[in-house]
Amino acid sequence: MDTKLWDVRNYVDDLSTYPQVQDIITGFRQNEIIAIPTETVYGLAANAKSRIAVNKIFKAKGRPQDNPLIVHIYDSAQIDDFASIPYSETHRLMDAFWPGPISFILPLKNDVLAENVTAGLDSVAVRMPSERIARQLLALTQLPLAAPSANTSGKPSPTTAEHVKFDMDGKIYGIVQGFQVDVGIESTVVDCTSYPFKIARPGAITARDLERIVPGCVGDANYTSDKPIAPGMKYRHYAPDSPLELVTDVSQLTLKSSEALIAPLAELTRFSGHITYPLSNTYEDISGAMHNLYGALREMDQQSGITKIYIADYTHITGSEALMNRINKATSGK
Ligand code: TXA
Ligand code: MG
Repeated sequence: MDTKLWDVRNYVDDLSTYPQVQDIITGFRQNEIIAIPTETVYGLAANAKSRIAVNKIFKAKGRPQDNPLIVHIYDSAQIDDFASIPYSETHRLMDAFWPGPISFILPLKNDVLAENVTAGLDSVAVRMPSERIARQLLALTQLPLAAPSANTSGKPSPTTAEHVKFDMDGKIYGIVQGFQVDVGIESTVVDCTSYPFKIARPGAITARDLERIVPGCVGDANYTSDKPIAPGMKYRHYAPDSPLELVTDVSQLTLKSSEALIAPLAELTRFSGHITYPLSNTYEDISGAMHNLYGALREMDQQSGITKIYIADYTHITGSEALMNRINKATSGK
């Protein structure tokens, strides 16, 4: 398949003026799969009402069929078609954080959505992205779009259109080229099917942020832990090809010439001559580290002859839960 590339970067103010916008919309309506930018990571999007379309996503990613997808909308009024909101606290969180990098798991209502979107579960994860291209595409197509990250299953999620092209060229109908993403890791997923709610996947919006809006809404006090309560969390994720190892004290590290280091810029001066990647300026810059993480892991895979990659441990910094969740998954606990 010849993957189309639509560079819409000059049309973000009004996507309907992009000369080929109709090709994108028609693609979605004809149940093709198209990669789109969001504020978290690039997504591989398709009509969530079509079993055929959703199946193409699983196939292109090589994703296990029992790992449910997130459904994207642009207006909360769309939810009523396919899901219910049993707790009023959910509305308050949606009002506070949507559009934005957070998904809410809700009870599924009927069979409007293709059943492979939810992997046969009786709940569905819903997200309203803030990224302008994604929002306009959702509005123009008038479809709920199922969209997991647009990477090959198990690889780091794509944060640029180039990353998507690297993984998906020839496998998908098209790529909408937008800008580099803002957040850099996938959305927070909150299970709102029972109260108090549970964090199914940590993200840039933390349990602390949720509790600021609705005190006590996150039940598990141990919310920093990474318990695999979401079915999808049992899979190894976000990993580069070379072995990746967490290093707790960078100041004690010695590197062999074939070994690389990903760490805050301030920690790298001692390692000139080695392959290094600044993940953030300092340890405190958690949003910078989230923004750069997947690009860093992908960049390391481009270098030849690396036998091991070390990555700095940010655990001691407040608000590092989501970052460390992704790093720990990429190292598989090493
Ligand atoms: O930031 C994001 O959320 C990105 C962008 C593209 O929007 N999307 C994304 O989708 O990360 P995906 O399909 O890779 O994430 C789906 C994850 C599953 O692995 C699982 O952890 C959780 O969301 N999930 C989805 N539906 C669920 C459900 N019904 N019950 C429990 N967990 C669910
Ligand atoms: Mg993913």
